[in-house]
Amino acid sequence: MVIKNVNLETVCGITSKLPKNTLPEVAFAGKSNVGKSSLINALVNRKSLARTSGQPGKTQTINFYNVNEEMYIVDLPGYGYAKVSKEVAAKWGPMIENYLHTSEQLRMVFLLIDLRHKPTNNDVQMYRWILSNGFSPVIVATKADKIKRSQLQKQLKLLKDTLKVIEGVPIVPFSAVTKAGRDEIWELIEEYALT
Ligand code: GTP
Ligand code: MG
Repeated sequence: MVIKNVNLETVCGITSKLPKNTLPEVAFAGKSNVGKSSLINALVNRKSLARTSGQPGKTQTINFYNVNEEMYIVDLPGYGYAKVSKEVAAKWGPMIENYLHTSEQLRMVFLLIDLRHKPTNNDVQMYRWILSNGFSPVIVATKADKIKRSQLQKQLKLLKDTLKVIEGVPIVPFSAVTKAGRDEIWELIEEYALT
């Protein structure tokens, strides 16, 4: 996709109502600090449109980015970050669930997993939940630049085995540093969400 314009159109906090969008939506889910915002910036060729941080828990809202008046990229709050208050932590799950459950325009959900680590119980839950709600999941194995080439297959196997990835679910190794995987992600979006 050629990015002509992109803007953060809607920000939803815990108490805000979700927008009734009419364009297709593609959402990005994953543990806090896994690289969701960095991936979104890479997709739309902007350095700091989606705010990134070395500190986990940066994105605490559901952010809708309008791309070319053609579709929305949806940045979901990261889960599994221990240091937010219990009150906030307890609301994130239902907030994400409610969005995945009620959005009429959501076409596909990308689940981001840090390629360096074994997926957590939260990751496994999120993966199952995406499947059981009938969404077409794509797994993005993030921070691929941080592992040695010789470790790639081993880490991908750990990811597949832990999540019990079923056949046909694409797994895309990605790096926000080298942009490896970016084109493949756009191809998948165009194939599953925009046709
Ligand atoms: P929350 O908003 O807290 O849920 O985090 P997030 O998933 O949006 O992560 P974010 O994009 O803010 O990235 C977290 C940290 O990881 C930042 O310091 C990024 O620079 C770094 N990071 C993200 N992607 C990559 C990558 O592909 N390679 C490397 N080396 N670092 C990355
Ligand atoms: Mg973020």
